[in-house]
Amino acid sequence: APGHPTCPHHAPATPEPAPELFTWEFATDPYPAYAWLRERSPVHRTALPSGVEAWLVTRYGDARQALADARLSKDPANHAGSAAAKGKTGIPGERKAELMTHLLNIDPPDHTRLRRLVSKAFTPRRVAEFAPRVQELTDRLIDDFVEKGEADLIHDFAFPLPIYAICDLLGVPREDQDDFRDWAGMMIRHGGGPRGGVARSVKKMRGYLAELIHRKRENPGDDLISGLIRASDHGEHLTENEAAAMAFILLFAGFETTVNLIGNGTYALLRHPEQRARLEESLAAGESALLATGIEELLRFDGPVELATWRYATEALTLGGQEIAAGDPVLVVLAAADRDPERFADPDTLDLSRSDNQHLGYGHGIHYCLGAPLARLEGQAAVATLLKRLPGLRLAAEPADLRWRGGLIMRGLRTLPVEFEPG
Ligand code: HEM
Repeated sequence: APGHPTCPHHAPATPEPAPELFTWEFATDPYPAYAWLRERSPVHRTALPSGVEAWLVTRYGDARQALADARLSKDPANHAGSAAAKGKTGIPGERKAELMTHLLNIDPPDHTRLRRLVSKAFTPRRVAEFAPRVQELTDRLIDDFVEKGEADLIHDFAFPLPIYAICDLLGVPREDQDDFRDWAGMMIRHGGGPRGGVARSVKKMRGYLAELIHRKRENPGDDLISGLIRASDHGEHLTENEAAAMAFILLFAGFETTVNLIGNGTYALLRHPEQRARLEESLAAGESALLATGIEELLRFDGPVELATWRYATEALTLGGQEIAAGDPVLVVLAAADRDPERFADPDTLDLSRSDNQHLGYGHGIHYCLGAPLARLEGQAAVATLLKRLPGLRLAAEPADLRWRGGLIMRGLRTLPVEFEPG
């Protein structure tokens, strides 16, 4: 009764219920719930919003181990309820189609072969040579709003930058890139929501890519698609379907992630004025070291990929002391692992100069992000150029009024309204 708190020594040991996940509050700030899980139920079984039951892995050590465990398959056919799972883990409208056989849905030996082939075309050198183009794109987008003194950094900047960048890299002609912007917009706005528009966009993109691959085969250039067609390994080539699925996963994996790196990263900087001032001073002095460690820290602190993509136990196994049955889905919570105090000193503090920072924001093991060099390039160019060109940059909304997308895998803002001194 009120006024008579139960004596803790005599109370029955009822376990404290786990925090509610996937609510609106959780989407805004999932970190307190993840801290609870890491402490009390580090490998936690829960029902996802879709109704599918899955294990959430939240400690850094367990997460890293799970990401490298060959008994955790990426192939949705290994889910105990695989017929149901296929529709929930894939690209809407592409449940059985060719685009689904991409790197994030397959295991060795197919994964090994495809990853080796794509790595021959998508090289760090190709990305490094792309740096001036990324800077040009960044400046062009800022030119469009710099005189207004206000912008929505998601809509006006973070969203178009990666889509134009990947289109350029792949070799999509400039005049067709706005179509991609529309299709990608449909996918990001409605991903996991109403399926009709998304399925139509995916279909259009697939048709376009198939035709583009065909054209590049006839008439190769020095773009990535031509490189994918040319790549061969022990006489093996990518088939046209494999090349189309590869181009698609590059778009799909490299788009919303980068939007969110720029969005979440800029937002974190705006909320940590001391850190932001340090970075501005260092950029003004022409240094790049703090920018480089800073982007890694922004990924650790509030990264774009909240949960790694789906994995399924191919046999019964024990993870973090918890038994997992064959066929169970396992979701590695990168956002929770990257705030684990067992691994990171003061994990809830943003420290742009953090040096011991082996975060899991790009994953780990054989599926480690293929696009990490490009993501770093875009993230660094975006953040540095925003700070340099938009003096007095500040949030134009209360943090509590900002809306986060409620997707399962990704974490990102819907809008990021800002003001600055017009240039
Ligand atoms: C895989 C994160 C940008 C292409 C992954 C994974 C993560 C990740 C966590 C592993 C998923 C898992 O194991 O379940 C990110 C982040 C990015 C980013 C945080 C931006 C900040 C990009 C870009 C591209 C890209 C720009 C390409 C243009 C890929 C591909 C894979 C992948 C192809 C699958 C690799 C494989 O299965 O072998 N990424 N990514 N990513 N990423 Fe990224």
